Amino acid sequence: MHHAAYVFDAYGTLFDVHAAVRRHAGEIGPDGQLLSDIWRAKQLEYSWVRTLMGAYADFWQLTEQALDFALRKVPSVDRGLRAKLLEAYWRLDCYPEVPAVLKALKASGARLAILSNGSPEMLEAAVKSAALDQVLDDIFSVDQVRRFKTDPSTYDMVTTGWRLYPDAVSFQSSNRWDVAGAAKFGFRTVWINRANQPDEYRDFMPGLILPSLEGLLTA
Ligand code: LAC
Repeated sequence: MHHAAYVFDAYGTLFDVHAAVRRHAGEIGPDGQLLSDIWRAKQLEYSWVRTLMGAYADFWQLTEQALDFALRKVPSVDRGLRAKLLEAYWRLDCYPEVPAVLKALKASGARLAILSNGSPEMLEAAVKSAALDQVLDDIFSVDQVRRFKTDPSTYDMVTTGWRLYPDAVSFQSSNRWDVAGAAKFGFRTVWINRANQPDEYRDFMPGLILPSLEGLLTA
């Protein structure tokens, strides 16, 4: 535990984005995973396209629009589940090791924060629901700069807010594209490769690759 400042991506890294669909798996039927994958992929695509166009809309709106696309694309899923699926997004499960790892890092004296595309309201709700509010010093939402990751202005919120050089920050994300953006910005990076994906963005390598956050305690 060498770093005094740990910053975490939220969705996919701390919170399981597929928990919303899993919670209603019985009613959704066999195409649940497909729906969840399309929902997530479109949510991210919208974030990148809107940032490139300069047409920001907050992550909650993107999440709704992405679900609407996914429900039309996967017609076997009852569209009447829309409200339930969206509601679940406000109290997603965190991954099992998250509370203990964050508590241990905090106890070591480190400063902890989230840096996420999520809107402040979504992040507040998810953090409270997972009882992580006591261990986090800050929640940085890109809503403040009205651009999504991997725009450098998003990572800059942390170094400006905490008055640190980028290489004083250890940034953890399960999203390889987010790790690339953070590495380009100058953060130390840890790719939490939860889904055992092949590597990519080889010109922006992570400093470390771990299967879960657990390894941070001995890194
Ligand atoms: C976030 C997206 C990447 O939390 O899931 O910023």
